[in-house]
This record gives sequence, C-alpha cells and structure tokens, in this order.
Amino acid sequence: MHPELIKLEQTFGLSALSKIDDPFLENHDINLWIKRDDLLHPVISGNKWRKLKYSLDEALSLGTDTIISMGGAYSNHLHALAYVGRILGLNTIGIIRGERPVPLTPTLLDMENWGMELRFVSRPDYRHYRNYKHWQDLPGLKPHQYWLPEGGATSLALKGIAELVDEIDIPYDTLCVTCGTGATLAGLINAVSGKISVLGFAALKNAGFLQSDVQSLLSGEFHNWEIFQDYHFGGFAKLNPTLVSFMAAFEQKTLIPLEPVYTGKMLYGLYDLIAKGYFKPGQRIVAVHTGGLQGKRGYA
Ligand SMILES: Cc1ncc(COP(=O)(O)O)c(C=O)c1O
Repeated sequence: MHPELIKLEQTFGLSALSKIDDPFLENHDINLWIKRDDLLHPVISGNKWRKLKYSLDEALSLGTDTIISMGGAYSNHLHALAYVGRILGLNTIGIIRGERPVPLTPTLLDMENWGMELRFVSRPDYRHYRNYKHWQDLPGLKPHQYWLPEGGATSLALKGIAELVDEIDIPYDTLCVTCGTGATLAGLINAVSGKISVLGFAALKNAGFLQSDVQSLLSGEFHNWEIFQDYHFGGFAKLNPTLVSFMAAFEQKTLIPLEPVYTGKMLYGLYDLIAKGYFKPGQRIVAVHTGGLQGKRGYA
C-alpha cells in the first residue's frame, strides 16, 4: 500500500467489538456485539475507509492528481473523500445530486472547506452518472483523473471490507450490516466462512435491485445471505417517532451513538427479527456499525 495511506491508517482508532448488555437480548438468549467501525476515525469512519482504501491506493499508483465521485448533499462517502483528498494533497470533485442548497448543508460546507469542487447536477443527470462503474468510465476524464462510482462501490472496496471480517476474533453465527449500494454487504459475504449467515438491511425503499447488484459483486454463488427490505421507515433518510425512540433507548443503554439513515435502521430491524423469533436461541450476532455519524447534522 502507498506509504501515505499507511501513515494515515496508523492514526486510526481501534474498531472494537462492544458486547451489548440488554435484558431484552438475555430474554431471547441472544448474544450481540457491535463492530465499532464508527471508532476508526471521526471523518473517514465506518465503511468509508474500508471502501476507499484500495481505490485510493490504485489512484495513487496511477499517478492520479484528481479524484471525481458522486453523492447527495449529506453523502458520507464524499465527505470522507474530500477529507482524505486534503490529507493526501489530491484534488477532489464531487458531483452532487440536485441544486446547490442555500445555505449549504454542514456536509457540503465541510467538503468545500476541505477543497472539494462541488458540481451540482439535475436528478436525471445524476442517475445517468450511475452507469459509470469503472474508474476509467467517466466521459471526458482527463489524464491523471480517477473516477470513483457512487458510494465507492467497486471490487476494490470489497477487499477493504474483507479486512473487517479478519478483525472479528470471537466465534459468531451471524453478521449484520445496513445496505445502500450493497457493496459492504457483498464484501462481507465474500469474506466470511460459508457457515456464517450474513444479513443486510436496506436503507432505501424499493430496494429489490440490491439482490442482483450484490450478486454481481460476489465471487461465486453463495446461499448464506439475505436482505431485509422492510426496515426503511418510508424511504432513504426518512424517520418516524418509533425509530427515534428506539435509537434513543439504545444509545442510552449502550452509550453507542447511532445515526438514523443506516445503522439505526439496521439495529431496529435486527431487534424486530429477534422479537419475532427469527434467530435460534444461543445465536451469536455481530452487527457492523458503519459510522456516518456526521450525517446526523441533517436532523438537527
Ligand atoms: C454510514 C454508511 N453506512 C452504510 C452505507 C451503505 O454502504 P453500501 O453502499 O456499501 O451498502 C453507507 C453508504 O455508502 C454509509 O454512508
């Protein structure tokens, strides 16, 4: 790996496994740990670093001076990319969905302050950019520019996600994660032993596409995974009082901070499955906290 990336990674915190002490879990004879990727770094937290790391390495080895990517006005991915670009001395360009908001969201403001050039595009144009899946695919890409698809969802992202699995040093039966593009889920499925079940919780409504998107990222036919699509609370980034009070109670009990777009919804879904008897008694579950806590500012 590029020495600058090694240097950066050496500053990171430890993604511990936090055991959850909760009478509800005890009553259902379930053991739950949270894999605290939120603790890796205050900005490049959660799956962001895992997914970016090897793409950044490739970009640097190609002599890239500019990385271009896409995301929404609260994108954790672009936020992390802008920050890392500043640290590595790379130019960054963010293609943002919709019109420039006035005032800028706190996420966009950080990104601009870190030197990212923000290019706002219409929603249909934004959707079009989703067709460019490989680093060279963006039309008009100049020499020394590198294109990173939405959410950093590339095969190199999966390599970074696999490292998360290697770090889990306890026996467990089930691994849970939230899904946006599904790249993180695919990385987990590729990396675990076939005896482990991997459960994804869609953060978006109408996420039927995830099944084939995840399959297309996998290195083979696996049958140990499932995606739950009913815990989106009305759509991406939507919430309601039930989710808010679940998260508040969980945070109070565990002192683990949550955000409502991804990990909050996954945990709600997981608790609901436990309550419904989905898991066999004695199950050992590891749920990944994918970070993204900066996105909470959108709800202030
Ligand atoms: C905090 C957080 N968690 C989870 C995800 C979803 O990850 P993926 O797109 O790999 O499914 C994202 C978006 O990339 C995210 O920002």
